[in-house]
Amino acid sequence: MNRSFELRAGKRPWPIVAAACIVAVLIACLGAASVVIYGGVYDIAADTPHSQPVYWLLQKVRQYSIAARAHDDVPNDLGEAKRIASGAGQYAEMCSGCHLAPGIKRTEVSRGLYPRAPELRRGSALTPAEEFWVVKHGIKMTGMPAWGVTHDDELLWDVVAFLRKMPELTAEQYKALVESAPTHDEMMQKMDMGHGHRSEQASHR
Ligand code: HEC
Repeated sequence: MNRSFELRAGKRPWPIVAAACIVAVLIACLGAASVVIYGGVYDIAADTPHSQPVYWLLQKVRQYSIAARAHDDVPNDLGEAKRIASGAGQYAEMCSGCHLAPGIKRTEVSRGLYPRAPELRRGSALTPAEEFWVVKHGIKMTGMPAWGVTHDDELLWDVVAFLRKMPELTAEQYKALVESAPTHDEMMQKMDMGHGHRSEQASHR
């Protein structure tokens, strides 16, 4: 009448069978993952594109990771000429080598990057808060640096202000704007001295 009787009678102990199956599947998965990792199966070369499923996965991880973290208050004055000029100067110096700009032809760095650095003069699907987050924190394993390590938030919002403006600019307007910008050294000096209280004007998005 007890358990051993049931076994003898041919009744299978289903919970044990199920557990054994799960363990077997896990061991098989771990084995397969080990072969892929330690066997050097995945081609990490930047001149070989990801397979479609890996590309899809990375896109989704990036999209939702940025959306979940981009919570900074967006300053009200992103349209201010001073901000845009400061951002243009920084962009020309720090970003255009990878992301290009109006009138700038593809560079050797931009041609070799994978994933490619998007041409930001064509605009972006990101919100200003998301752009700020990406510029500040960078993106792992892509070549996109974390500019927040060396620049304060005010300077990075200037860059975002410029990013929003860039799609409207001709090559000549871009050149003039960059020439009107303070030099990189001047901007870094201003950062070291501390900015005004512009962040007090921030609004919640
Ligand atoms: C060394 C090359 C490199 C430099 C320099 C660089 N980036 Fe990037 N950036 C990238 C790459 C590559 C990506 C794409 C990452 C990806 O696909 O996940 C990227 C992505 C971005 C994105 C996200 C765009 C989108 O629509 O998804 C923004 C915004 C951005 N960069 C802004 C900047 C700014 C602003 C600077 C300068 C302060 C800069 N980047 C400097 C390589 C660079």
